[in-house]
Amino acid sequence: MSDQGKNEQLTKWVAEVVALCEPEKVHWCSGSQEEYDALCTLLVESGTFKKLNPEKRPNSYLAWSDPGDVARVEDRTFICSISKQDAGPTNNWMAPKEMKETLGKLFKGCMKGRTMYVIPFSMGPLGSPIAKIGVEISDSPYVAVNMRIMTRMGSAVLDVLGNGEFVPCLHSVGAPLEPGQKDVPWPCNKEKYIVHFPEERSIWSFGSGYGGNALLGKKCLALRIASKIAKDEGWLAEHMLILGIESPKGEKTYLGAAFPSACGKTNLAMLVPPESFTESGWKITTVGDDIAWIKPGPDGRLYAINPEYGFFGVAPGTSDKTNPNAMISCASNSIFTNVALTPDGDVWWEGMTDTKPASLTDWQGNHWTPECGKNAAHPNSRFTSPAGQCPSIDPEWENPAGVPMAAFIFGGRRNTVIPLVYQSFNWSFGVYMAATMGSETTAAAVGATGAVRRDPFAMLPFCGYHVADYFAHWLQVGRTTPVPPRIFSVNWFRKDENGNFLWPGYGENMRILKWIVERVNGNAAAVESPLGWMPKYEDLDWTGLDSVTREQFYELMSVDRGVWKEELVSHEELFVKMYDRLPKEFPHIRDLILSGVWRSPEHWEQFHSTADKNS
Ligand code: GTP
Ligand code: SPV
Ligand code: MN
Repeated sequence: MSDQGKNEQLTKWVAEVVALCEPEKVHWCSGSQEEYDALCTLLVESGTFKKLNPEKRPNSYLAWSDPGDVARVEDRTFICSISKQDAGPTNNWMAPKEMKETLGKLFKGCMKGRTMYVIPFSMGPLGSPIAKIGVEISDSPYVAVNMRIMTRMGSAVLDVLGNGEFVPCLHSVGAPLEPGQKDVPWPCNKEKYIVHFPEERSIWSFGSGYGGNALLGKKCLALRIASKIAKDEGWLAEHMLILGIESPKGEKTYLGAAFPSACGKTNLAMLVPPESFTESGWKITTVGDDIAWIKPGPDGRLYAINPEYGFFGVAPGTSDKTNPNAMISCASNSIFTNVALTPDGDVWWEGMTDTKPASLTDWQGNHWTPECGKNAAHPNSRFTSPAGQCPSIDPEWENPAGVPMAAFIFGGRRNTVIPLVYQSFNWSFGVYMAATMGSETTAAAVGATGAVRRDPFAMLPFCGYHVADYFAHWLQVGRTTPVPPRIFSVNWFRKDENGNFLWPGYGENMRILKWIVERVNGNAAAVESPLGWMPKYEDLDWTGLDSVTREQFYELMSVDRGVWKEELVSHEELFVKMYDRLPKEFPHIRDLILSGVWRSPEHWEQFHSTADKNS
């Protein structure tokens, strides 16, 4: 409580919010362990949390959300720039004045009967010159405890802030309580608004308590608002994991990889290499699993920091086999949301174990058995865990100067069309490739799953301004960076005609990472394809893996001429939407790719047949 009132702007804003939202109490978060424990106890008493068995899952809790509040709500997310044109064709927009009137009505008295938490947080190491400070005001204690894991949170932030600037983030679940009214375990409102004012650099979120809708440091500040600041200041805020690869010689190479939501960032960031790699001295370290802030360094390279302090990871599919480092990260001091409860007070989700438990309580509180045919955990259920608990965490993960980026990887979830891996010819080709990336939609957002949509740079739901200006900004960063990272495309999700994955993925992705690192450092062979540089079968390290045949590899790598002509036509559909601001390079690059695809593919076929003959 001692720190309130130091920052004039903050004091004024808090008073305004109190007057508007009419909370019963105001609580300034100190960020201490005692406060965290007390809030968790409060959440247990109110029925939001169940305390998990401390022998199985020390200091951990389980929350089940309202079934109507389980993921980000993209159609209720708005970029309210002053000019509609500046929000671009991929964002919802409303005039700031009109939106403020709407929000003013919704927020009026919306915290009645509740405690209002003032949550100061830092995205990035406390006091680092690249960190940004935000203050979230929320009527959700669930948000307060999650924010303590996901960000550096509490009074230490106010000490650093002094009288400086911060991003105001106002959040309400939109469920005021009348005197005597009993609360529900997961208060929320059917009407939802996730709103950003990019010029003013402020955030208003109403009606949801879930993930990116409510933990406003993450997608709202560190991506949507930060991407706009980054554009204005000449840096990048990206939906990227950051990992380090140590070679047997002890050389360290850092990579950033952008995949859409629920497409494998956490998995890749914490990859455990196959035994043969570990034995010969290859090692992967984790800097971040979701967001990267990337800035030009003094030596002409780009440096990246992870602005977050924890992981908000997808639970289903996470197991000791697929991601042991994530399993250890969430072994204690964690919050689980929408996973199932075991009879002995632990958690379970689809894919955690080979055999399903005989009986569970599912994420909606119903009795569950393997025969019931329903998911025990929601497909977008998640764990919130401290990043410092990850065994593979990189020693430099909190270095305020960041780590040097040698390559950027882009990848979507594509059944067909996109090869397993290739390297773009140069920065401009790479930007084009990332801009036209497509992916099948996942449960990370409300709506249909499985349809292919363009998801430029995996930033479609997260770019805080006109997406074509964002492409131009990336091209500009390439022009002004003396040593730009190399750009690669990957696709772990290609399937055969029977719908089976052609690539084993997970730890085996190390084989691709090794080729990428060797390409970057100038020691790996590649051949030219219509899309970029590709490894031949013999250019990858196959030690210890016999499940992928040479034939299967070339199926994974194939570039079908007919299919690619259609793919390029669908790029055009994206371009038409942003014709007025599309970078002038893009139509030329499309034509160059088309000429490669259209050209007699003898060279390409020869690549396959030569490879086959050499075996
Ligand atoms: P957000 O946190 O939503 O931004 O997503 P993320 O990219 O961090 O998602 P995460 O790593 O948790 O992805 C989870 C999904 O990707 C699960 O369905 C996994 O089974 C799947 N996945 C991850 N790696 C691989 C892989 O190498 N191959 C295949 N086939 N699936 C993978
Ligand atoms: C994503 O959807 O990309 C996430 C989860 O990382 S959330 O924070 O809920 O947006
Ligand atoms: Mn994400």
